[in-house]
Amino acid sequence: MTEQELTDRVLDKVAGAPDLRFRDVMLALVKHLHGFIREVGLTQEEWRRAIDFLTATGQKCDAKRQEFILLSDTLGVSMLVDAVNHRLHQGATESTVLGPFHVAGAPMLPLGADIAEGEPGVPTFVSGRVTDVGGKPIAGAELDVWQTDADGFYDVQRPSLGAMRLRGKFTTDAEGGYRFRTVKPVSYPIPTDGPVGRMLEKLGSHPYRPAHLHMIVSAEGHAPIATHIFVAGDPYIDSDAVFGVKPSLIADFTEHAPGPAPDGTRMDRPFCDIRFDFKLSPIQP
Ligand code: BEZ
Ligand code: FE
Repeated sequence: MTEQELTDRVLDKVAGAPDLRFRDVMLALVKHLHGFIREVGLTQEEWRRAIDFLTATGQKCDAKRQEFILLSDTLGVSMLVDAVNHRLHQGATESTVLGPFHVAGAPMLPLGADIAEGEPGVPTFVSGRVTDVGGKPIAGAELDVWQTDADGFYDVQRPSLGAMRLRGKFTTDAEGGYRFRTVKPVSYPIPTDGPVGRMLEKLGSHPYRPAHLHMIVSAEGHAPIATHIFVAGDPYIDSDAVFGVKPSLIADFTEHAPGPAPDGTRMDRPFCDIRFDFKLSPIQP
């Protein structure tokens, strides 16, 4: 049997699958996988190491750690899936990678609340509006926000904490406005104590993500977006380990000397403020 005959026999078998979408996906998978092996001339030893790598990736996963998503993220697969699925949402705020640290059930907070109370870091006032793609304000839109602490860790990465922090949900007012207080996010490394960390090392690339705030913005009748606001000027803005940066999501975190703050209080230390508007597209009928 020739190499091509082998590929054709596998394709013939897959072509008989009754689920048509499954059939099409599997046909493309077999075609590209076989093509990849032929292209690189994969050795037996490389095949074995690939199996070991995937096995270790699975073994690293548990309820709190998803090494396969990290693998997808660091190979640009998550961002490509995101792009393919947002081809229709023209005019809406761009989405980016969700990441593994979103937690359902963050506390619903009043507008203006501080999600970083008692946390070290530069106080930061975040505000803006949620509108539709035509600029019409969306009242009652929800922003689900999360970020790292000053050391670059999410609450779920500190199991001893036993509680949520640096997370919150906000609902826009009648003009589509939102505002909350936090601390300026910092750049941080994605987890490197597993097979993905070893892969990055072998690639000679760093594991850092540029500083960002995460949010899922949603409103009835509109397509929800999972996105970030990135801090302009971050040293990793052009080399995000998971390829998540889009120019439209980079914002200036304007620095201010101590004095009057956007929430009407007086700050006795330097602070930042940042405005960022979100646009949602209608759900396609
Ligand atoms: C994050 O931004 O939280 C993240 C995204 C992808 C991989 C790891 C972390
Ligand atoms: Fe993050």
